[in-house]
Amino acid sequence: MRTFYIETFGCQMNVHDSEKVGGVLAARGYQEVDTPDKADLIVYNTCSVRDKAERKVYSRLQQFKRDGGQGRMFAVLGCVAQQEGERIFDRAPYVGLVCGSASYNHLPELLTQLENGGHRLTGLSTDTEETFETPYTRRSSPHRAYITIMEGCSKDCAYCVVPFTRGPERSRTARSVLEEAACLADNGCTEIQLLGQNVNSYNDPSEAVSGFAGLLDAVARTPGLRRVRFTTSHPRDFGKDIVDAIDANPVLANHVHLPVQSGSTRVLDRMRRQYTREEYLERIGWIKAAHRRIAISTDMIVGFPGETEADFAETLSLVDLVQYDSMFSFKYSPRPGTAALALDGQVPDAESGARLTTLQEKQRAIQVRRNAGLVGSIEEVMVEGYNQATGQWIGRTLDNRVLNFILGAGAGSPRPGGYARVRVTRAGANSLAGESVDLL
Ligand code: 5AD
Ligand code: SF4
Repeated sequence: MRTFYIETFGCQMNVHDSEKVGGVLAARGYQEVDTPDKADLIVYNTCSVRDKAERKVYSRLQQFKRDGGQGRMFAVLGCVAQQEGERIFDRAPYVGLVCGSASYNHLPELLTQLENGGHRLTGLSTDTEETFETPYTRRSSPHRAYITIMEGCSKDCAYCVVPFTRGPERSRTARSVLEEAACLADNGCTEIQLLGQNVNSYNDPSEAVSGFAGLLDAVARTPGLRRVRFTTSHPRDFGKDIVDAIDANPVLANHVHLPVQSGSTRVLDRMRRQYTREEYLERIGWIKAAHRRIAISTDMIVGFPGETEADFAETLSLVDLVQYDSMFSFKYSPRPGTAALALDGQVPDAESGARLTTLQEKQRAIQVRRNAGLVGSIEEVMVEGYNQATGQWIGRTLDNRVLNFILGAGAGSPRPGGYARVRVTRAGANSLAGESVDLL
């Protein structure tokens, strides 16, 4: 029997793509192994969103340079594959297959060629209207599952490779999404996360549901599901109907990830984000006016070309206004083929680094304060596992906080995938700690 090893870099879409690719390989009789040296086929599913992520795959491939891979098969998939294409063969000649996500529908035939000794095989067309569906997806957890609702991105952000690496936006039919959700729920899965680069512009090709809010509502009615999450939202397309849907259905997670990238309208304009600071804050206002408490998280880029001290001060003031529950923040990284390369006003690396530290310290203080406000409350968690080292169970709240807990008197013994009510006793910047009250 053949064996494969797969390593995944990057976002949740990549994690889920690897579950699909792993399923395709398993259906061909491959068995997964946990180290590359045991594998006949080594697969890297790559990310090129920032330079650092891109370099990782080359450092992995470098390890095999001396022995040329010793007769193993190598496949490079994902965003670096799409971006670098055949250049990967020049840097690592033992790589046999390079394929971007918009061509995964062709993986079965490409794998057949690879197994038959084919080399320099490519799947690099982004000219597709299809999404990558497979009946074989191998999910890592029986309790929580990703479902792709759309692929690609047709926005035009000046810093971003995704429209090039994942191709144009295309939505999957609501019917197939709902069938997958029902099938997962029938098999005991209680939490689903709907995935897309810009879920708010979801547009059911069969017109059975209206917009993303229509899909959310329909998925959340699937019998057996207790939690439905979604990511990622683009502020431009984020409608109040999403907030109304969350308010109307307690199965929908009370958490919105709404990447802002900058608090300065001038920078947002240069980034081609298609909204102003004020328009973004209007959306935050809708979320805060909801009846349910809805957690808000974001992504932020510092040091975008032309970002002045005054622009950065606007970012800090936006963070003060919004009071995010969590944030991913990055130094701007120039990416091949993107419009931002042509912009002047490069911010020196040391300056970007200093801004990033300032931003992260501010955000950390906000998180400490917000989390402290939850001490004493009782939260429902999904149990994700047990941490031997700390002797705590690991739980996650509906609004996406980590809440580690010990067992309260008479609370019963939890199981991964189960639910518990936990009283919050302590709070840190990145997690909460507590004691279980009862199991649900
Ligand atoms: N440089 C830095 N950060 C980037 N992101 C996307 N492209 C870049 C880039 N060129 C960040 C954005 C996005 C997140 C997934 O990655 O904040 O929301
Ligand atoms: Fe990385 Fe973006 Fe590709 Fe995800 S879509 S793997 S974040 S480059």
